[in-house]
Amino acid sequence: MPRVFSGIQPTGDPHLGNWIGAISRWAAAQEPGHVFCIVDLHAITIPKDPAELRAKTLDLAAWLLAAGIDPEVSTLFVQSHVREHTELTWILSCSAQMGELNRMTQFKQKSAGRESVSVGLYTYPVLQAADILAYQADEVPVGEDQVQHIELTRDIAHRFNTRFGETFTLPKATIPTAGARIMDLQVPDAKMSKSAETDAGVILLAETPARTAKKIMRAITDSGSEVVAGPDKPGVTNLLDLLSAVTGREVPALEEEFAGRMYGDFKKAVAEAVNDYLQPARDRYAELSADPGEVQRLLAIGADRAREVAATTMAAVRERVGFLPSA
Ligand code: TYM
Repeated sequence: MPRVFSGIQPTGDPHLGNWIGAISRWAAAQEPGHVFCIVDLHAITIPKDPAELRAKTLDLAAWLLAAGIDPEVSTLFVQSHVREHTELTWILSCSAQMGELNRMTQFKQKSAGRESVSVGLYTYPVLQAADILAYQADEVPVGEDQVQHIELTRDIAHRFNTRFGETFTLPKATIPTAGARIMDLQVPDAKMSKSAETDAGVILLAETPARTAKKIMRAITDSGSEVVAGPDKPGVTNLLDLLSAVTGREVPALEEEFAGRMYGDFKKAVAEAVNDYLQPARDRYAELSADPGEVQRLLAIGADRAREVAATTMAAVRERVGFLPSA
């Protein structure tokens, strides 16, 4: 049974890209040994208002439970509740190379144009490696934008194992067949993102169905009028990918269905399918977010379970590295 680990940052508002690329897949195949983490330590690499961070962490937990993550089966917890992540980060940062971190696309994108960039933003991928390696994960279900970080995690783990002896499982990223990179509906050459300047092209999980429909009806389409995917049609391709992800149907079958029909008809069908797909989770979220005490109780159970696994890994790591046990 493969061990699975994945994480999501409690920044901005969760959107359909997060849902299709990651969250829905975490909920779809749960087993004991699957671990899902709200990565608040990652969130502070870019300045955050403390009260807002706390509120968003709890809110995101409600969304993950609404997605159907069952805390009786999987482990769901908040990163800062398990101190082993930070300890392992330091040790791995002595195996990671600056050359590797310099190549990280996400760092380049997030640091571009900023006057000051924290060391934390730079070493962020090492913390991500620690998250994954602490749980000896075999598989990491993510969207395509995270694949580079998972490959780096493998490299760091391999280097550590070579130097100190077999300690870490080498993980691999798994990405969905449809929806691995959902694009912004207004800027179809940029990914749908929590940090987009406006949410006009971002389908938020928490918005009303009417707002979702409006955004999809206003999505940028391409010149021409045919509903077909192709490199010269990023807007329509993205909507086809979205429709494929939420219906489970293949893109060629969808192209056939919409052959000879107008963009407007097609967008209406996409809007309906997306809203139908999200509605059950939107309903469950409304219930869960009304009971924050219960959400926190479930997170505490998750943290206890996560700590047990991470502590076992850390004991081995300390011994391999040569730290004297405390008497
Ligand atoms: P984050 O919080 O940006 O995104 C959470 C998950 O959503 C996926 N995703 C998308 N998938 C498809 N289309 C999109 N437009 C889209 N936008 C986001 C992401 O790929 C991700 O799977 N560094 C990570 C969090 C993290 C992590 C980890 C992930 C920290 N530690 C360990 C895996 C394992 C991040 O910022 O994800």
